[in-house]
Amino acid sequence: RSRVRLKELLSEKSIGSTATVAGWVRSVREAEKGTLCFVELNDGSCLGSLQVVVASGIEGFSEMKGCGGTGASVKAKGEVVESPGKNQAIELRATEVTVLGPTRGGPDRAPGAQYYPLAKKFHTPEHLRAHAHLRPRSRLGSAVVRVRHALAFATHEFFNGLGFLYVHTPLITAADCEGAGEQFTVTTLLPEEGERADTIPRTPEGFVDYSKDFFGRKCGLTVSGQLNVETHAVALSDCYTFGPTFRAEVSHTARHLSEFWMIEPEMAFATLDDDVKLAQDYLKYCVSAVLTRCDDDLAFFEQANEKGLRDRLRSLASARVPRLEYSDAIEILLVAIRDGHDFENKDIAWGVDLNSEHERYLTDVVYKGPVVIVNYPKNIKAFYMKLNPGSNPPTVAAMDLLVPKIGEIIGGSQREDDLETLEQRAKEVGLDPKSISWYADLRRYGSVPHAGFGLGFERLIMLVTGVENIRDVIPFPRYPGHAAF
Ligand code: 4AD
Ligand code: MG
Repeated sequence: RSRVRLKELLSEKSIGSTATVAGWVRSVREAEKGTLCFVELNDGSCLGSLQVVVASGIEGFSEMKGCGGTGASVKAKGEVVESPGKNQAIELRATEVTVLGPTRGGPDRAPGAQYYPLAKKFHTPEHLRAHAHLRPRSRLGSAVVRVRHALAFATHEFFNGLGFLYVHTPLITAADCEGAGEQFTVTTLLPEEGERADTIPRTPEGFVDYSKDFFGRKCGLTVSGQLNVETHAVALSDCYTFGPTFRAEVSHTARHLSEFWMIEPEMAFATLDDDVKLAQDYLKYCVSAVLTRCDDDLAFFEQANEKGLRDRLRSLASARVPRLEYSDAIEILLVAIRDGHDFENKDIAWGVDLNSEHERYLTDVVYKGPVVIVNYPKNIKAFYMKLNPGSNPPTVAAMDLLVPKIGEIIGGSQREDDLETLEQRAKEVGLDPKSISWYADLRRYGSVPHAGFGLGFERLIMLVTGVENIRDVIPFPRYPGHAAF
């Protein structure tokens, strides 16, 4: 390829070289009575842009002046020189420019009128969200994608380094891992011959006849790859899955999506303690990786979202996460209520699930940092979690890792490895034993203690960027009412 990426070019080391670059115009400024053009070009490989100086007389000068400004795509060849300007170290003195694609009038504009939705320097996240197809050209959109990439790469590096195998778990499944009834159904009912394509086959009793479905049964989109990855962990030892998960949860919060990505490691021959340690090590690895690899983007987020972001991340990468028993968490909240803290929901007692305001009190006020809560009451957790032997009232070997502002970022547990206890638990939550017989088999044939967790990838990105709305850290956010292209 003949062009060089700006990421490689934008250092003083390239001064004196001849280079061809290509990218999209961030701004064009004319000077010297229109005989000079300063073009700020960016190609998305990094946050910074390159100043291209285009003088009258060089090939492509007049096309450049008529390119329509911001958003146009341009290729330029020239010499890299030290920049006399104070905003950049280097610039490209062009000897040749080509406008590959000008910015043209939008569909709802008068013919010929120039309009580009991202023409201004700064846009609110809301404006960018409304232009998801152009968002990657913005500083926010592109910085998010680069950090996402760095974190995905660091994830594979981390687990690969520890000898974990990456297992591809299915997106279409009949199992509802969390049992929270939040599964999207994937229904493709096949009409009988001669029937209209939209006819819904029914049983004699009038119910939808899922046996006529494409898959021969009712299926859905996965809410978690955990149950599937467990089958591999209890055969191959340490495994992980990393893919999209789906939840038909009608929440309009800044930390919920209907489609989000989850990293789910699963370890054989492991306990809750191993699980907590892995979660902490993984989190620290990710934070250190972005600190060393995404400094420019973090500097941008620091200026756009959160003062002191990198200092916060540095302390996150080095501090030990305190561990708190669920019972003690309840005690702390009860004391807070007694001391007059004004929770919206004051119905705190042993046995209730924590709301986000309670979690945030623990992270933001009490610990001023992340905290892991362990050993939750059995009744507020999923059926697959290991019952703590002898616990009374019964608790399970579960852990949630909470971080300030966001709340739960990781949820995990040791898994129930005792066949009878698992079957009993499934019955209690109303699961048809037949539907999980394959899962019970993992306990029937060579059961081993095993543990794992799920980390919400978008919440991790929020944590390291300080971006406050989860819809801004995924390229194509899906939430109630929003699922365009
Ligand atoms: O706590 P959750 O529901 O746990 C599980 O799904 C387990 N099966 C994971 C496992 O043990 N393998 O979800 C795990 C994490 C949460 O801590 C949160 O970070 C994220 O997934 N998450 C969401 N992220 C964005 N939008 C949503 N609607 C989310 N629901 C959960
Ligand atoms: Mg959870």
